[in-house]
Amino acid sequence: ALPVGFDGRHQAGIMTPAQDRLHFAAFDMTAAERDDLISLLKDWTTAARQMAQGNDIGDFGAVAGAPYSPPEDTGEAQGLPPSGLTITIGFGRSLFVDAKGAARFGLDGQLPERLIELPGFSGDRLDPAISNGDIAIQACANDPQVAVHAIRNLARIAFGRASVRYSQMGFGRTSSTSTAQVTPRNLFGFKDGTANIKAESEKDVEDFVWVQDGDGPAWMTGGSYLVSRKIDMRIETWDREPLNGQEAIIGRAKGSGGPLSGGDEFATIDFEAKDDAGQPRIDPKSHLRLAHPDVNNGAKLLRRGYNFVDGSNGLGQLSAGLFFIAYQRDPAKQFVQIQGSLAGLQNDLLNEYIVHVSSGLFACPPGVGPKGYWGEGLF
Ligand code: HEM
Repeated sequence: ALPVGFDGRHQAGIMTPAQDRLHFAAFDMTAAERDDLISLLKDWTTAARQMAQGNDIGDFGAVAGAPYSPPEDTGEAQGLPPSGLTITIGFGRSLFVDAKGAARFGLDGQLPERLIELPGFSGDRLDPAISNGDIAIQACANDPQVAVHAIRNLARIAFGRASVRYSQMGFGRTSSTSTAQVTPRNLFGFKDGTANIKAESEKDVEDFVWVQDGDGPAWMTGGSYLVSRKIDMRIETWDREPLNGQEAIIGRAKGSGGPLSGGDEFATIDFEAKDDAGQPRIDPKSHLRLAHPDVNNGAKLLRRGYNFVDGSNGLGQLSAGLFFIAYQRDPAKQFVQIQGSLAGLQNDLLNEYIVHVSSGLFACPPGVGPKGYWGEGLF
């Protein structure tokens, strides 16, 4: 329940321990002036810092202001602890240049080369209404009301300058980001995050998560690139698949999470192991195999996604899946490489049970000092 530090070299919400709840929102700028963007980022930073400390926003908060004006803070987080709230911001390509490549907010010269347009992947069924956006904000907390309060108040502050394009709630983190956390399970019932980058692996964190000096424009040093993918999971179809089939698709045992080559959850994976009939114990088209660094030029990702259930669809099936979030230093070499393998000629066995319906790529700037504001290095 303690506050997670807001100020620092890196933004919180990336390498800090994954919380249990998510409210993710993408915004589009409705104002066209550079000064409007700067003032918005300043106002957002001030409010985010207050909320991360478990405080109301503004000078007077929810109930101490003048009775004849609307309260500065909407009030539903009063009395709740900070609940580990982190608020993380990222900038989409469309904040820098419009669809024709013309500058927006005078930022074209600051567009990082690595903030690419993600290529299409076979099997994608992306809905533009819930994809991309000028600015993304990821609010994570251990209490959903705290995460919702954060996005709601930031959206309110943005009125007249930016508006919400889409938002997504998530629960049950699907990744651990520290060896101190137990591995959670996704909605297919499997442990998810076993082989994730962990905060304790400092070399992996520097090599694969944080943007380093010389990787691109200086304003991104210490930041990271966020890829979001809303992935619908065909729950009812999956539930009809036999246990050994489910395990073969993933490449791990459903109970322990150990690789099918043998051993416990964290046992070394042996892709060469064969069964008595001489067949590979881990299917070469399994999710584990095709997502593994061995077949992806060594690429790794920091996964930080959440389960979602948006009620049921008209057929009585769950509208559910994984709101996949991954952080990385270079999207082309990491997410695009790995997703290219999963959706490529080999075709991940998992693809029969999932469909990607939204996509986003955002450049998350480094952290701020106590007097700084998000993205200040851009201006
Ligand atoms: C591993 C599930 C989508 C990348 C895993 C594991 C599970 C899993 C159960 C094994 C445990 C672990 O090591 O974390 C899923 C489900 C997905 C999905 C249910 C979709 C609904 C994706 C996507 C990517 C991805 C879109 C990236 C493009 C990875 C990576 C690993 C992994 C890098 C670790 C592989 C290794 O190094 O052993 N996933 N995943 N996954 N997944 Fe996924």
